[in-house]
Amino acid sequence: MSPAGLRASASAPAKTNLALHVGDPTQDGYHPLETLFIAVDVRETVTAAINTHVARRGSGVVVTVSPAPGSEYAEMVQSGTARLSDIPLDDSNLAVRAALAVCAAHGGNPGIELRIDKAVPVAGGMGGGSADAAAALVAVDALLATHFDQPRLGHDLLMELGADLGADVPFMILGGLAEGRGKGDVLRSVEAANQLHLVFVPQDQGLSTPAVFRQWDHAHRGSTAQKPQRTPDPLNPALVRAAALGDAADVATWVRNDLQSPAMELLPELATLLNHGVELGALAGWVSGSGPTVCFLAESADSADILVNGLRREHRHAFSTTGPVEGAQLIPEWGTI
Ligand code: C5P
Repeated sequence: MSPAGLRASASAPAKTNLALHVGDPTQDGYHPLETLFIAVDVRETVTAAINTHVARRGSGVVVTVSPAPGSEYAEMVQSGTARLSDIPLDDSNLAVRAALAVCAAHGGNPGIELRIDKAVPVAGGMGGGSADAAAALVAVDALLATHFDQPRLGHDLLMELGADLGADVPFMILGGLAEGRGKGDVLRSVEAANQLHLVFVPQDQGLSTPAVFRQWDHAHRGSTAQKPQRTPDPLNPALVRAAALGDAADVATWVRNDLQSPAMELLPELATLLNHGVELGALAGWVSGSGPTVCFLAESADSADILVNGLRREHRHAFSTTGPVEGAQLIPEWGTI
């Protein structure tokens, strides 16, 4: 038996992609990518607790979601531009699937209650669902290791379980700055000397990642069936170097997202916002991942604040943050283990 009230909490960062180069889909339907991920300081928190009463209910994992106090997401829920009800609470929730994968690896499920404190906008291209999964993997692993008196699964196995849950999940575990290949799950960390200042502008409506990739497919459909498989362009070493140095001006020169055009075809109003951010002093703006959240690069913390204030005056949701930051982490003071 485990001690009553045993629980563990972990946090995981959101991300954007400073480069996202796309190739033709392979047979599994996934598009090969060359991407430069950056983890940013907006974190999802997942708390996992043993609850033997839920062991016999459904899959044996239940989840609740609350907006993280003080987060932009909480403001979006309060103003009615985001709905908590958009987040599934059944076994399709990525944090639930992560918990079940960790239970399988530990060889048992004593009944688990998850609580997600959500700070990252949903379906926005910032990897919020993947961050939930990453934080759940780390929290549930710590919880079950104590409960079953077993060693933790450890980083490498959690990365493998993460890759089965979604292409971005391994990066949310790793964090920092990293080159991603394959479907985005083959990672190489890049050491970063300095931070970048970023401003995110979530949109009132989400975009589905598969829909944006399908739009990319549509635009790149060849005229003959025999066209060779297009591979993603290699990452630009100048961008990787600039991001590692935290050289915002150079990063701004080289940022590139192949999913930006398809996202803008689906939501044309993004073009106005991108231009407007640059008018307000951003060094560059791009659609984050598959969108529709827009990310701007600022020269300094002060210029990021000016940008946020300018965008908020126009009743847009906007917040500044920094990156790179660490990947999924246990929060020792929240847990009893
Ligand atoms: O892996 P994840 O569940 O996050 O991906 C969601 C969807 O996005 C996939 O089912 C696929 O349609 C698309 N995707 C893709 N190529 C990638 C990553 C995602 O086509 N490299």
